[in-house]
Amino acid sequence: MTVDRERSVVFGEAVEQYDSARPDYPAQLITDVLEYAPPGPALEVGAGTGKATAGFAARGADLTCIEPDPRMAAALTAKCPGARVEIGFFEAYVPDRAFTLLYSAQAWHWIDERRRWDLAHATLAPSGAVAVFWNHYVVTDPDLRAALAAVDSRYGVTTSSMHRDGSPRAERSEHELAHDPRYTDLDQRHYTRTDRYGTGRYLDLARSVSAYRILAPDTREEVMEEFAALLGRDGVDLTFTTDLTLARRAR
Ligand SMILES: C[S@@+](CC[C@H](N)C(=O)[O-])C[C@H]1O[C@@H](n2cnc3c(N)ncnc32)[C@H](O)[C@@H]1O
Repeated sequence: MTVDRERSVVFGEAVEQYDSARPDYPAQLITDVLEYAPPGPALEVGAGTGKATAGFAARGADLTCIEPDPRMAAALTAKCPGARVEIGFFEAYVPDRAFTLLYSAQAWHWIDERRRWDLAHATLAPSGAVAVFWNHYVVTDPDLRAALAAVDSRYGVTTSSMHRDGSPRAERSEHELAHDPRYTDLDQRHYTRTDRYGTGRYLDLARSVSAYRILAPDTREEVMEEFAALLGRDGVDLTFTTDLTLARRAR
């Protein structure tokens, strides 16, 4: 599978919506990543508006962030003024130092899968850590989830995971690094929590997801109206799982 470059940068069209509707990452995950990584400079790939960056910055991490979308990068700089921000694609980034941590939140799947582990390896110091993680959110109530999924399928939306059971990344039987001798200490962790979203915030969350962002604006709003009718005024309980993969560059 190659990366859909156009789809990978649709997020900047709705920066504020993205930033307010998307969930943060668990504080425990940030603690675990920083404990796993040796001390030293960290590189974030696909930092967006800084939803993960803020957590690492608050712990005093020495951060360089790569983000190709200038609108996302502007929000990132405003939120995390201490981080160095490089505007561009990771595939074109030339590191100026050896990083002891490379992390990527909700973005590693956008990096060319034929090259991303080579690029990470070239970026890391020996024993440097890589941490890639994704928030996966689903509507908790199975009946409501099925009704929302039926709307998706009527509009030909097949790639939204918001209304599907299970966590696609967690379910993969074997990790792509399992047999890569350049990496060691592979470790996968999962963090689960629940939250209640008001209907408006839920719609903003859906609007921030690339599966809906790529729809024509009128069609997207029709889908949102159908979601709103199903949710009513009560809002919706969501179950969030954050899937983290940790590995270390072998010496
Ligand atoms: C779903 S957003 C995640 C943003 C942020 N990390 C977060 O957790 O909210 C994906 C981000 O990856 C960025 N991106 C897409 N392709 C990229 C690439 N090849 N190199 C670096 N970043 C990329 C997008 O611009 C976008 O900001």
